[in-house]
Amino acid sequence: MTLDLRSVDDAAELARAAADIVVDVVTTKPSALVMAATGETPMGTYAELVRRRAEGRLDSSAMRVVQLDEYLGIGPDDPRSLYGWMHRSLVAPLGIGADRVIRFDSEGSDADRAARDYDREVESGGGIDLAILGIGVNGHLGFNEPPSDAGAPTRAVDLSPDTLTSNAAYWGGRTVPTQAITAGMSMILSARRILLLVSGPSKAEILDRLLRSEPDPSLPASQLTAHPDTVVLADRAARGA
Ligand code: GLP
Repeated sequence: MTLDLRSVDDAAELARAAADIVVDVVTTKPSALVMAATGETPMGTYAELVRRRAEGRLDSSAMRVVQLDEYLGIGPDDPRSLYGWMHRSLVAPLGIGADRVIRFDSEGSDADRAARDYDREVESGGGIDLAILGIGVNGHLGFNEPPSDAGAPTRAVDLSPDTLTSNAAYWGGRTVPTQAITAGMSMILSARRILLLVSGPSKAEILDRLLRSEPDPSLPASQLTAHPDTVVLADRAARGA
């Protein structure tokens, strides 16, 4: 299968196009469970959703959110917490209460148990209606570092040097935790719809590889080619155009 690539001009158009899809999903199913990546790429989309809610164009009163990944060993109040980032950018401004958020228990000493609890909570919540994802420069989704096959479970991972370098940009001089917990590829691929956001020149090389790839564990995002409802939104800079 080939990926459904939709080309947009720039980050602003990408945010609007992505928000259109999220609003469509939440309008069809108000209690939709949405997986929300952090990272820089989806921030414009989240700001656009917040704007639409303020304008009365999005009703998020029943919407639910599930986090995609988290560093291990840091608490929700640590400035580097990915949960904290998701909370500030999306969950709080959309008025989504804690009872409508699924998150990792990433502080405890038992990461395997945290992974199982997370999977169980997502499954008992009816599964993921829409996953909003970014892509790492090494082709990772969440923290499914290469190699990750389509069956990779929710689990603790050691972060690759590429990821540590790119994530350092988020936190100024602070060190990046070297371990994380991530929704597995199997959980991501179980989402009914997937939206992959690709923006900026730093993603041009990996997007080019992705668009030419068969499903290949060395490029985890290539597993999306086997998913029945994935849209890739890419801006001009990411397309190298
Ligand atoms: C990070 C995160 C991913 C994110 C990706 C891209 O390492 N683990 O969830 O989607 O890399 O980040 P960015 O959008 O900042 O390029």
